[in-house]
Amino acid sequence: MRNAEYGWAMEEREALARNLKQLIELDRALGIDFVFKPAASAAPVAAPVAAPVAAPVAAPASPATKPAPVAKPSVASAPPVVVRTSPVAALVTPVEAVVTTTGPDSLERIAAEIATCRACGLCDTRRSTVPGEGNLQPELLFIGEGPGVDEDATGRPCVGAAGQLLTKMIVAMGFKREDVFIANIIKCRPPGNRTPEPAEVTACMGYLRRQIAALKPTVICALGNTPLRALMGDDNLDITRMRGQKLSFAGITLIPTFHPSYLLLNDEAKKPCWEDLKLVLKELGRELPKRG
Ligand code: URA
Repeated sequence: MRNAEYGWAMEEREALARNLKQLIELDRALGIDFVFKPAASAAPVAAPVAAPVAAPVAAPASPATKPAPVAKPSVASAPPVVVRTSPVAALVTPVEAVVTTTGPDSLERIAAEIATCRACGLCDTRRSTVPGEGNLQPELLFIGEGPGVDEDATGRPCVGAAGQLLTKMIVAMGFKREDVFIANIIKCRPPGNRTPEPAEVTACMGYLRRQIAALKPTVICALGNTPLRALMGDDNLDITRMRGQKLSFAGITLIPTFHPSYLLLNDEAKKPCWEDLKLVLKELGRELPKRG
């Protein structure tokens, strides 16, 4: 092995070790440093959608496939709950409705359209489109900002360091990652992982609205400022003030919390984030999983 290669390998190993240590510390801070018993109430879920193009779309399951709500848990320190309704929540705009009148809309179809989308400049620099993946009849939909370098390389949402933390948060809530659906506001990586520009968000929102209409989640959890602002149609909203509040998007409960990439850098945000996730569970009528 040449010195240069050896040096690079060492650096990468050290970076991986640092990353792992950081994740373990985050687990502890989030209170998820324990083994979970599988949630007793978890019901079989539909096959996950493989990205970048959705995998076989499972035959629509009957509503009965969603786990039966369990007794509402008491959440001792639930944050204040207010209700605010998105003014921009029409699930399908007239233009999108025209596009989809030739057949029933589906996650697979939407993913296929995203794969050839050229509605904004991000199509010139993307390696993959990242439509989202997960249960096609989810109780819970997580919405992040947009693909980063790992997502761009794989075509799958939330697979980098922040995504790994999101997966741990999902497991801590008593789900498997494939029980929920994970999507982003924009489906292509902005160069350098910059925040998406308003025009890029606008160009992409139709896809997300159609995804939400097809998925019909019970609760949407918005991760960070970008999904909060895009879904609520208000660029002045701030996640620090809005997190843990019960909002509404097209009649669907919307609960914003911090983005996992923010948690990776801000220890003090972990506890409030976990409170928000407990509020999500409460809204779903689910109990916290038992510590094993
Ligand atoms: N990866 C995603 O898919 N979305 C984010 O918001 C961040 C990382």
